[in-house]
Amino acid sequence: MASAPQSFAPIDLNDLPRWSTWSARLLGLETFEQPVRTQSKIDEEYGRVKWQACLDAWRTSGGKLDADQLRASYYASDPSALRPAVYHGKLLAAPASQIMAWYDDLLAEWMTAAIGRATTIVELGAGFGHILWALRRRFPGKQWRGGEYTASAVELAAGLYATHPDISVERFDFYDSRYAVLERAAAPVVVLTSQALEQIPDARGTLDTLAKYRDKIIAGFHIEPAYDLQDTSTLLGQMRRRYLEINDYNRNLFGELRRRPEIRVLRMEQDVIGWNPFNSLGMAHWEFAA
Ligand SMILES: C[S@@+](CC[C@H](N)C(=O)[O-])C[C@H]1O[C@@H](n2cnc3c(N)ncnc32)[C@H](O)[C@@H]1O
Repeated sequence: MASAPQSFAPIDLNDLPRWSTWSARLLGLETFEQPVRTQSKIDEEYGRVKWQACLDAWRTSGGKLDADQLRASYYASDPSALRPAVYHGKLLAAPASQIMAWYDDLLAEWMTAAIGRATTIVELGAGFGHILWALRRRFPGKQWRGGEYTASAVELAAGLYATHPDISVERFDFYDSRYAVLERAAAPVVVLTSQALEQIPDARGTLDTLAKYRDKIIAGFHIEPAYDLQDTSTLLGQMRRRYLEINDYNRNLFGELRRRPEIRVLRMEQDVIGWNPFNSLGMAHWEFAA
């Protein structure tokens, strides 16, 4: 079970500038070059920098580092250092190791029943499969399949899971009109995205493509920034929306899920967790309507 957030120091809205340079950027006090989230931006940020660094670290370790250790190093050089975070709607200071544990507890809490009914869990935008790896430990006996855009993450996953045929990551692009990873997955399938649809400013194409596999998908889960759920009558809500706009992150996933007649939302919550005060994540659990 998740630990109580009260045991971590709350952060006052007024103190945010001491914790994060983002408030200055959002208010235009510090320059920020706004990205356009193209595939070449993804290749640059993840393919050539973040996942390449994990691949390099894994090779340097002689293949000894596992997916948990690489994930921890990706989040923070010192996993015990306090950082500003969001947990159950509160701003607080917590170490990356704790946020990671909360994150995994949230996924397990939301997904347990659906995973119990599934043969395969497919994560789209899976990086090197580190979230699947953590889930797999809690739910043995399932198939774990990841789809990922960058070659370095797919190569790292191939090395990490070489002796575990129940987990793998293959090349995948959210913008494709068919998803081979879903076509190959043994039904019933649960689909997850974790901070990955955030990279796709407009989620409509992805939801259209997922609908092609409605016969095998028994549940969809997202843990993603929830632009549509942010309350623009609050300062924090306004700043969070602005953060998503200037980073060209997704702005319509949660609204589209609620709007589409083919989708039945079973549970939706905002501000469940966040690795920074402004990239505050919501969660959604849905199924295709009968
Ligand atoms: C912030 S990381 C999240 C990784 C992992 N899901 C997690 O929760 O830690 C975003 C991931 O989305 C992937 N991604 C971005 N655009 C993509 C696309 N068009 N198709 C597939 N994956 C993509 C990135 O390469 C990266 O691995």
